[in-house]
Amino acid sequence: MKLIIASNNQGKIREYKDIFEPFGFQVSSQGEENIDLEVEETGSTFEQNAELKARAICDRAHCCVIADDSGLEVEALNGEPGLYSARYKGLKTEHERRMAVLKGLEGQKNRNARFVTCICFIDESGDSHLFTGVWNGVISAEEEGTNGFGYDPIFISEDGDGKTTASLPLSFKETCSHRAKAVRGLITYLRSRSMKQ
Ligand code: IMP
Repeated sequence: MKLIIASNNQGKIREYKDIFEPFGFQVSSQGEENIDLEVEETGSTFEQNAELKARAICDRAHCCVIADDSGLEVEALNGEPGLYSARYKGLKTEHERRMAVLKGLEGQKNRNARFVTCICFIDESGDSHLFTGVWNGVISAEEEGTNGFGYDPIFISEDGDGKTTASLPLSFKETCSHRAKAVRGLITYLRSRSMKQ
């Protein structure tokens, strides 16, 4: 069965290939299929955006699709950067976006935050299945660490021993992050589905 990954991010493509191939899917990426589609993320939740991206590819290619959407929600910033995490306040660099979050929290006692990932899998019948993972934590006082990407240098997870995610080995994130939790939900579903077939 053919499955297309709705992403051009090489890390994600590798990860989803490793997940789906053992279940008998022939996996390729949007790029490998020459699908040049920039889907407008007009949803108001991560779930809606993941499904919008998956559905757009499915309508074009008529096969199984996997898409995801993630971001950081900061409680005292009314859930910002949220859906706009990758383009927060129109700032160009990840460092500028992190600094905007730190500035927004100046003088704030409440530094609670969470990362969220939603994965949408559209199966061969065209039905969508959503898997959401949440990783709770707080925003640090300043940037720390060089591992990972995005907001990792300012995110101290509830399992992080007071250290930012970017200060911990990447293997740590692979076990307990928002993405790891959503992926676990997806794998549990794929296992139960293959047992029924
Ligand atoms: P995407 O939807 O997975 O591309 O994520 C959108 C944006 O959310 C990224 O560009 C990052 O700014 C932020 N983000 C998502 N996941 C993470 C993470 O694990 N660490 C740090 N930032 C993240």
